[in-house]
Amino acid sequence: MADESSRVPTRKGLEFLGAVAGGLVHEIRNPLSTMNVTLQLLQEEFPDDATDGRGQRTARRLTSLLGEVSRLEEILDDFLRYAGIRRLNLSQVDLNRVLEEVTAFVMPECARAGVDLAFYPDRNLPIMRLDERLLKQAVLNLLLNAVQAMEGAEPEETRGEAQLIVRTRLEGDDARIDVIDTGPGIPEHVREKVWEVYYSRKRTGSGLGLPTARRIAEEHGGSLTLQSEEGKGTAFILRLPLAGPDEAEPRS
Ligand SMILES: Nc1ncnc2c1ncn2[C@@H]1O[C@H](COP(=O)(O)OP(=O)(O)OP(=O)(O)O)[C@@H](O)[C@H]1O
Ligand SMILES: [Mg+2]
Repeated sequence: MADESSRVPTRKGLEFLGAVAGGLVHEIRNPLSTMNVTLQLLQEEFPDDATDGRGQRTARRLTSLLGEVSRLEEILDDFLRYAGIRRLNLSQVDLNRVLEEVTAFVMPECARAGVDLAFYPDRNLPIMRLDERLLKQAVLNLLLNAVQAMEGAEPEETRGEAQLIVRTRLEGDDARIDVIDTGPGIPEHVREKVWEVYYSRKRTGSGLGLPTARRIAEEHGGSLTLQSEEGKGTAFILRLPLAGPDEAEPRS
């Protein structure tokens, strides 16, 4: 009989599985993007402002289908990210400009949730080599978490004012981004767990936001940590080396 240890996947076995899964994800993505395009074409035929009931219903259903398709695309993207199948797409980036764009993007969401958002850039930051899209995704995850935390909090759990502060500064050889909220904080016994894949305390959360953000930071040779105090709020600290990610570093 095979000995128990032979069932533990070897590194080669895991790499193989990763490659197979990666291939599968790519195969699923192609028909999904066809569906996306087709649904958008249909949407043009059934515009939102249809006057008859049937047209309105169809427009609503199309919107919902499109939403589901993009959700599936996101799940696949996240999966590829974990499996470490994607490589960084680096370019020369002004970090402050990227953060300005992300904060502007969440502004309507903040306004809706009654959150006061402020961005304080350190203008001394140099241009850095980054994957802009991934960095945006990481920061967006942090911002959405902060808004959701403040939105869902009972008034007695927080300091009252719902404030979200994003700031940059130079710190040694790193650029540092702080995302600070005045939400309910993260209880001490879950502070480690929040980094785990699929750990979520939200009804509809997937638990991928923070592990994804941390992974993106680490792929850039940086780090993502948090400080939190119950009843006061939470600060996420994202550090990125000014020198850029070391491309010679083998990917884990
Ligand atoms: N700023 C924050 N304040 C309070 N709790 C937070 C904050 N950010 C994260 N958390 C907690 O950490 C958990 C994990 O966060 P994460 O972003 O990984 O997943 P999620 O937000 O639940 O789901 P997803 O981001 O995938 O939609 C959250 O469910 C929440 O309980
Ligand atoms: Mg989240």
